Amino acid sequence: MRRKIVAGNWKMNTTVPEGLKLVEDIVAKLEDVPADVQLIINTPFTHLYPVAESLNGIKCPVCRGKIALGAENCADKEKGAYTGEVSAAMLASIKGVEYVILGHSERREYYGETNALLLEKARLALANGLKVIYCCGEALEDRKAGKHFDVVAEEIKSVLFELTPEQMKNVIVAYEPIWAIGTGETATKEQAQEIHAFIRKTLAEKFGELAEETSILYGGSCKPSNAKELFAQKDIDGGLIGGASLKADDFIAIAKSY
Ligand code: PGA
Repeated sequence: MRRKIVAGNWKMNTTVPEGLKLVEDIVAKLEDVPADVQLIINTPFTHLYPVAESLNGIKCPVCRGKIALGAENCADKEKGAYTGEVSAAMLASIKGVEYVILGHSERREYYGETNALLLEKARLALANGLKVIYCCGEALEDRKAGKHFDVVAEEIKSVLFELTPEQMKNVIVAYEPIWAIGTGETATKEQAQEIHAFIRKTLAEKFGELAEETSILYGGSCKPSNAKELFAQKDIDGGLIGGASLKADDFIAIAKSY
């Protein structure tokens, strides 16, 4: 059984006090989150330690189990003279940090992150015991030209196919069409299901049965009003949520959409 996952991607939003308040508001509603849904919040680096402390302070073990924490990026180098970078080992050294998002289209587009670089990051993250949320997705031109399957296949093959099955067990895939991110435009449930099924089939070429156990999340203007129909699709195992994860009520409403 694949785990149902609702992951928030805060991006470069909230100051530390604002982030802590948001976490407090989410935690106050954890009882409403179905027991089989895993929430993950991915925050800026500066927020990780205080947010981890806050989550580690949750008294009820059932509620604590419903929410996990991750970063939005990590370095492609192990350690050393790389001013401004944050290594996977540094992230893993914070008790409570379990995940890292890699390959988000904003990192690919604005910071020139290539598949080769992302493979280095993924290897380091996994070697340090982090789980990876690996993003893929096509631009509008690619979709219009009918190239979306090729673009996504390339992003999957050149990074994830280089991992071992053992490593792949700690990877969640997030399909995020670039044209739907932060635009208010969402892929239809049919478009999303079609490409999620394609991603699973592609993963099966290399990893066989394991592809059935891999969670594949949809991201791109996912909100309370459309989460239910998206999550009802056979190959959609949850969502990676940007804007709507910054409001506790919306984030929890999405988690309750299962
Ligand atoms: P959005 O962002 O929900 O604001 O469209 C999703 C993402 O980029 O992960």
